[in-house]
Amino acid sequence: MAATPKEPVQFRGAGPLNAPISGVLTWVDQRFPLMSLWRDHLSQYYAPKNFNFWYFFGSLAMLVLVIQIVTGIFLVMHYKPSAAEAFASVEYIMRDVPGGWFIRYMHSTGASAFFVVVYLHMFRGLMYGSYRQPRELIWIFGMLIYLCLMAEAFFGYLLPWGQMSFWGAQVIVNLFDALPVIGPDLSTWIRGDFVVSDATLNRFFAFHVIALPLVLLGLVAAHIMALHEVGSNNPDGVEIKKHKDEQGRPLDGIPFHPYYTVKDIVGVVVFLFLFFTVVFFMPEMGGYFLEYNNFIPADPLKTPPHIAPVWYFTPYYSILRAITEDFMLVLAIGVAAYVVLIWLTARDSRVKLVAAASGLVLVVLMKGGPLALDAKVWGVVMMGAATLIFFLMPWLDRSPVRSIRYKGPLFRSALTIFVITFIVLGYYGVQTVTPAGTVISQIGTLLYFAFFLLMPWYSAMDKTKPEPDRVTM
Ligand code: HEM
Repeated sequence: MAATPKEPVQFRGAGPLNAPISGVLTWVDQRFPLMSLWRDHLSQYYAPKNFNFWYFFGSLAMLVLVIQIVTGIFLVMHYKPSAAEAFASVEYIMRDVPGGWFIRYMHSTGASAFFVVVYLHMFRGLMYGSYRQPRELIWIFGMLIYLCLMAEAFFGYLLPWGQMSFWGAQVIVNLFDALPVIGPDLSTWIRGDFVVSDATLNRFFAFHVIALPLVLLGLVAAHIMALHEVGSNNPDGVEIKKHKDEQGRPLDGIPFHPYYTVKDIVGVVVFLFLFFTVVFFMPEMGGYFLEYNNFIPADPLKTPPHIAPVWYFTPYYSILRAITEDFMLVLAIGVAAYVVLIWLTARDSRVKLVAAASGLVLVVLMKGGPLALDAKVWGVVMMGAATLIFFLMPWLDRSPVRSIRYKGPLFRSALTIFVITFIVLGYYGVQTVTPAGTVISQIGTLLYFAFFLLMPWYSAMDKTKPEPDRVTM
């Protein structure tokens, strides 16, 4: 049976050029849902009309993703993924390839810019409760993107084959050695050798240039699809779908295009201004974006005196270093106190039993004499937990309101302390180990986890303000 021809689409505008364009568009539209995609995701996608500064960072993250992919393609044209040639090929890009320095600095600055933008984007989510029902999946896809981004940055950092590339990878892969039973085999498997070598460089290259970018693109698509399914949250945290006009359009919504496409262009211009200021005038950013030791070729026989990861990993690196043998007692007491809190406040007796049993196992594995695991293992576990705990946000926040605008002093103080803690941990992660720095990182670690683990209590007890019915401007 012949397919029913689709209704021709009416295109607006009547200039002399419009007739052929409209003809082509109609031809395409009868074979591909071009106009319905345009309508559903741009011209008739209604976004809340009160978006503010914090709503720039999603589109900026997409822009940085494009910058990284495009500059990455050009870098791969000249880069050599082999231990013998990698360092020299990067120098060749910097000195001999026309515009090579520009492409390379855009890519290295882009890596840090990606994390700046994504951290601000996540902070917006925390402020306005964008992770909460019905946007849990947007948040989960976002967290998967974040993990993927960290892996992407880690693999990419080995490629210039400088001292920091080599020793950074050595330190991080060696962490897996600490895991009981499977540790040593696992780290050898990851490296493809007993030390970081040519085989490691080759596999990290494969992950960096193809495997992870593909996963990242798929996750970003899923993130946006989930967002467009439920609609954006906004600074007031109220649902705009509750109030609609006769045509079913949200009263507090405006079409994404042209209103937010134009607004986002403002963000893009300001961002590109700052981005290129860094690219042209301070590409190393005082050693934070490109570490000085990485301008020295990798030397497996010479360990640099101070090995630190790039700034975006340092809060977690601080947590790793904070877990010392002495600190295990504090952690065990913390776990016991947390179990007591659950026991005293939970209504369901099964919850109490599960909490008590898991608390007991944890305490034994932390401080149970011969059964206790090494502090190094706990460092790795805590570092992993510090990233993964963000996934739980939708279920930890029990506040009756979504946005920080209507939350009370408890949530506001907790979020402020968390942000300060994250920055302080990041700072100490770059520094060499000192006794004072270790104590500060240990306090930071406790505050970091307290923000999440105590949230069900303080968010429920908080004195909130009544949410408005409609968005405010
Ligand atoms: C490559 C990285 C990412 C890209 C390209 C991206 C893109 C976007 C875009 C375009 C939006 C809509 C515009 C906006 O609300 O700003 C958005 C919304 C959102 N993103 Fe992301 N995102 C990324 C990473 C993340 C991460 C790491 C998280 C958190 C774990 C996250 C959580 C969210 C949430 C909760 C929303 C909804 C916000 C709201 O409606 O208030 N995203 N994202």
